[in-house]
Amino acid sequence: MSNHYLDVAIATALEAGQILREEYERPADITYKGDVDLVTQADKRSERAIVRRLSEHFPEHTITAEEGLGHERRSKFRWHVDPLDGTTNFAHKYPCFSVSIALSQNGSVLTGVVYNPISNELFAAAHGEGATLNGKKIAVSQVSSLATSLLCTGFPVHKRRANPNIHYYYDFTLRSHGVRRDGSAALDLASVACGRFDGFWEFGLKAWDTAAGVLLVHEAGGAISDFEGNPYALGGPVVLATNARIHEEMREIALGISQREPNAPLPSPC
Ligand code: IPD
Ligand code: CA
Ligand code: CA
Repeated sequence: MSNHYLDVAIATALEAGQILREEYERPADITYKGDVDLVTQADKRSERAIVRRLSEHFPEHTITAEEGLGHERRSKFRWHVDPLDGTTNFAHKYPCFSVSIALSQNGSVLTGVVYNPISNELFAAAHGEGATLNGKKIAVSQVSSLATSLLCTGFPVHKRRANPNIHYYYDFTLRSHGVRRDGSAALDLASVACGRFDGFWEFGLKAWDTAAGVLLVHEAGGAISDFEGNPYALGGPVVLATNARIHEEMREIALGISQREPNAPLPSPC
């Protein structure tokens, strides 16, 4: 698997990962974007390096980056950048976080990279060319029932009061081998792609959280939709990503929860 966009995305993610490793050794320098929405010096340094390198290579492309350093261009190409996905984990020295970089053309993702600089795991995918982990092909799991699956979800960092996802968390925990909440949506999706998790769902994620990860899942043979079975659009309110085998079972149960629980409607976009 080799193409220029992917090669640049990989080199950029490795550079950003080196910054995150350096910052991880220092005392956390935390400020708040919301009541529990953390941002650190590491998010900003990583984003500056990513935007600089992508701009050097592709000055005509748009860059959407979480901390706001990107820029709009009149281009059908858009880079989606999460310079540190899992800031809360990072700030607490829990070594589960990543850099997520993806390129889309008119909304469909061409290349995506998710890099965990602590485990040194680099997930990469190019449209139509499969997905890899540290250069080796990966595929989703063969698990064929929800009852024998390991799942993952996440909760938004900016909502402290009631969150409807707790109903889904409760139900899926009882129906599966368990539900993990690992704190980096990009890594959660990468973990579905390489078969560690069999399914993942979350509400309210942004395109920079999911763009690379959904391509990884797709290229590794998985399925992605919302709870109604519509194709997932980047930044859509609900993402369900699975190994494909348990997709319908999970989707129908999730839809049932949204209809059954008055307090668990399909959350609207944040
Ligand atoms: C967060 C992580 C987390 C997810 C949150 C995201 P951030 O991103 O992906 O797993 O549950 O919804 O906001 O803020 O660490 O980049
Ligand atoms: Ca994120
Ligand atoms: Ca982030």
